[in-house]
Amino acid sequence: MELGHLSLLLYIVLSAWQKMAVPQQSATISIRRATSDDAPGILACLREAFEDYRQFYTPDAFLDTVLTPETIHERLAKTIVFVAVSPSRQIAGTIACNVVNCDEGHLRGMAVCPAWRGTGMASQLLSHAESELRRRKCTRITLDTTEPLKRAMRFYEKHGYRRSGKISDFFGMPLFEHYKQLVREDTPGS
Ligand SMILES: CC(C)(COP(=O)(O)OP(=O)(O)OC[C@H]1O[C@@H](n2cnc3c(N)ncnc32)[C@H](O)[C@@H]1OP(=O)(O)O)[C@@H](O)C(=O)NCCC(=O)NCCS
Repeated sequence: MELGHLSLLLYIVLSAWQKMAVPQQSATISIRRATSDDAPGILACLREAFEDYRQFYTPDAFLDTVLTPETIHERLAKTIVFVAVSPSRQIAGTIACNVVNCDEGHLRGMAVCPAWRGTGMASQLLSHAESELRRRKCTRITLDTTEPLKRAMRFYEKHGYRRSGKISDFFGMPLFEHYKQLVREDTPGS
């Protein structure tokens, strides 16, 4: 085979490999702070992400999780909400965070639409929220899960969250607290 043909073949193989190795979806999303205009998109995303779990939730717990046109505005006013926007401008993922006290930050309302799961979008959203809380001087982050959210539990575990042992009542469902101690970025060896 001539050298020119060999280079061309190598180029085609490398391009194909690159396309397979990098999830195309995660490369094209953008993450930004949500505004009140995003309320309908966030509601749709939460509904879609939690729909499979509805049967395992009490009705009140489900509503408090997926929010309503009224409660979404309270969430937007009281917490910092991020959205992941797809190339077609759809809100494909979201996460909210707020500072609870002088050193603790809390995460809530994390959701990624089924079509975008496993693309890295969830990790990017989590990283945005953690950076925001770190910037606001939090050294510990807490979040809660419920029993049916096995995939979320696995996801948080993978990102360094552990169960604190605190269990509270969430509209008739056990709510499990998880936490992560943040390592200061200027700590040697971190
Ligand atoms: C939680 C959520 C945001 C994570 O996003 P994601 O794109 O699914 O996350 P990832 O694919 O990076 O990680 C999920 C992990 O769970 C694993 N997983 C998949 N299905 C699972 C299941 N049924 N049980 C346990 N783990 C499961 C995945 O394999 C992956 O682990 P791995 O990377 O070690 O293989 C998303 O699944 C979601 O929106 N779920 C519904 C809403 C929700 O639970 N929100 C959290 C509220 S606390």
